Amino acid sequence: MIDKKIISLEQVTKQFGDLFALREISFEAREGERIALLGPSGSGKSTLMNLLTRTLQADQGKIELASQNIDKYVNQKEYAKLVGILRQQFDLVNNLSVINNVLVGRFNEWGTFKSLLSLFKTQDLKIAQLALKKVGMSDKINEMTANLSGGEQQRVAIARLLVQDPKIILADEPVSSLDPNNARIVLNLLNQLVREDQRTLIASMHSVDLSLEFFSRIIGIRGGRILFDKKTDEIEENILKELYEVKKDE
Ligand SMILES: Nc1ncnc2c1ncn2[C@@H]1O[C@H](COP(=O)(O)OP(=O)(O)O)[C@@H](O)[C@H]1O
Ligand SMILES: [Mg+2]
Repeated sequence: MIDKKIISLEQVTKQFGDLFALREISFEAREGERIALLGPSGSGKSTLMNLLTRTLQADQGKIELASQNIDKYVNQKEYAKLVGILRQQFDLVNNLSVINNVLVGRFNEWGTFKSLLSLFKTQDLKIAQLALKKVGMSDKINEMTANLSGGEQQRVAIARLLVQDPKIILADEPVSSLDPNNARIVLNLLNQLVREDQRTLIASMHSVDLSLEFFSRIIGIRGGRILFDKKTDEIEENILKELYEVKKDE
């Protein structure tokens, strides 16, 4: 089977005033790929993620999701069917139980969810329960989300993604605030989720080691440009060194 193209960036540039956060970035992602964005602090990783999550708009160039220009997804629901976002600060609703946080994924937005809270069908509950089981949180279904540890909250956020069922998952440093053990658990779950349904994952990452372990392709970004874009098993030590090298003239 030939994997389908799901994300495409062509000559994408983003400026903040005179500063070029991203310069003429081009790449394509196919279904099933797990892509890590690596690069020193300030290289443009978050800016790139923010363009894909539509938090920011590109100044130049073209971004397509599932062969349609990203700006054409005017309907938030249509976008949410395609794209799921896992945030660094877990954006769960703190004063809501775990199961209800997961159910929010069925409705893509908090407003709709609140108005439908009383109308959940057994079917919805079953889907949410199954998702929580998959991330190993079955025993905490009725716990208040605020009482969970960071790692547990990130697992609940993944369960919510499962329920939302998007084709693409975007995550800006999803495990940076977790200890190594929890980071592994979360990345394992993300991997599983992506592999099971041939989804596409793009995550900006702080840790080189975790990127090499959990991702199939690595894009190195430096100074707003792509320094390399390679399959993980083709990555060599010297290119990683160059990525993080401190140069005087920059
Ligand atoms: N909202 C903003 N306003 C001005 N400059 C910004 C803004 N967001 C990011 N930048 C700048 O753009 C560059 C890239 O930042 P960012 O994408 O956050 O990098 P990374 O995530 O790789 O650390 C940095 O120089 C940063 O200071
Ligand atoms: Mg960042």
